[in-house]
Amino acid sequence: MAREQWNSQLGFVLAAVGSAIGLGNIWRFSYMAYQYGGGAFLVPYVVALLTAGIPLLLLEFSMGHERGGSAPLAFARIDRRFEAVGWWAVTFVMFGIVLYYTVIIAWCLNYCVYSAGLAWGPDPNDFFFKQYLQLSQNPLELGGIRAPVFISTAVIWFLNWLIVFRGIGRGIEIANKIFMPILFVITTGLVIWALTLDGASEGIAAYLYPDFSKIAKLNVWIDAYSQIFFTLSLGFGIMVAYASYLPAKADLTRGAVLTGVINSMFSLMAGFGVFAVLGFMAHAKGLPVAKVVSQSIGLAFVAYPQAMSIMPGGQVFGIIFFASLVVAGLSSSISIIEAFAAAIMDKFALNRRFVVTALCILGFIGSAVFTTRAGLLWLDIVDHMLTHYGLVTVGLLECILGAWVFGIKKLRLHINAVSSIHLPRIWEHLIRFFIPVVLGLMLAGDIIADCKKPYGGYSCFAIVMIGLNWIVFTLIVAVVLTKRPWRYDYMLHLKEKQG
Ligand code: ALA
Repeated sequence: MAREQWNSQLGFVLAAVGSAIGLGNIWRFSYMAYQYGGGAFLVPYVVALLTAGIPLLLLEFSMGHERGGSAPLAFARIDRRFEAVGWWAVTFVMFGIVLYYTVIIAWCLNYCVYSAGLAWGPDPNDFFFKQYLQLSQNPLELGGIRAPVFISTAVIWFLNWLIVFRGIGRGIEIANKIFMPILFVITTGLVIWALTLDGASEGIAAYLYPDFSKIAKLNVWIDAYSQIFFTLSLGFGIMVAYASYLPAKADLTRGAVLTGVINSMFSLMAGFGVFAVLGFMAHAKGLPVAKVVSQSIGLAFVAYPQAMSIMPGGQVFGIIFFASLVVAGLSSSISIIEAFAAAIMDKFALNRRFVVTALCILGFIGSAVFTTRAGLLWLDIVDHMLTHYGLVTVGLLECILGAWVFGIKKLRLHINAVSSIHLPRIWEHLIRFFIPVVLGLMLAGDIIADCKKPYGGYSCFAIVMIGLNWIVFTLIVAVVLTKRPWRYDYMLHLKEKQG
């Protein structure tokens, strides 16, 4: 059967941008920028984008395009021993990251509805943690499922299913062609609105004022690289699969540059909106901005609702804001499901509709644990383990595979043969030496920090039972899938393609 294809290069770029722009851009970036020296954080961020983000995007695009397959197939076609790396990436992303990612989108959906009546009342903090999540004291106390979260998680899985089920051109491409313009328009509208609020300029000053002393620390650089990694969906196996649906002649460099730049511009712009709102709130309460900034999840579900309660037209602002998060989240979650579905279809030659339906049912069941009263705590632990260890390890192994096993020069020549902008040789050095060293440092830094003190103040027992076991479980699934035979000669199509 012929491989599905994007209808246009634009469709591919929008899908890649859709995968990249997600929940992480809106609050994770803003918070990081603020915490790490405001405007000065842009230095490590842009350096990370140029030296690792765009180069790794190109590596994933070129492997998927040249080898014509999802991550496990593309990797197996380079070296059979690396098939498991591809499986591991798509497995921990499908049976890990997307399980809680959909639950966060579900919170946004609930909050979209709550915004209409400012349901959080005078104390959004108490509302979010005590009434809405009914958060338990520790992760091992599951404490039952939260019905509102569970119901909207079902809605989100249904929407994911509806889009991915229809395939590349008719499902994912069309969805992104609708989602991305909507997202840009509503985000721009929200940012302009936020900038007109009293005190907005104080927030913007806090966001952009450069404190260069903060970027002298190594951990700030490591976090900038890890943010670029997550935000560009690198190490997820997504970009490999997406590039495999391109026709033989496809502009890979332009696609990677556009994806990297649009994604970062979006983050920067969203940051203006977030900080203008915080400035407004600080102004209204007569406090410095630093006192109203809260960490990632608190920013969207506590600080923002507080601001909505006191701003003119806060209900409308809330509905639009949370709707934009739902759209940004969905365009990323569909890409994750596709990365795994593509791998299963490649290996077992199964029908898309069957694979996607089964995956979405399994995914929904898997999400259930994150809809319990301990869901937020599980999410925090699993997210830490998978993003800090999983994604980075996959990125490192991808560099080894591309640079040392396949031959980085061959990949560069392939990229240059199909693209309009020619890739300079420095890219080879980045993939061969620089990026593996940076990723190695990130891993070492995390291992040392986690050994010194268990992450997030959780007990060692909880970290091992939940976080480490999640890694081990997904590794076992990856090995089992690797051991299964291919339903057809997996090298055949490549030979045909190469004529
Ligand atoms: N790249 C996606 C995000 O930033 C996963 O949320």
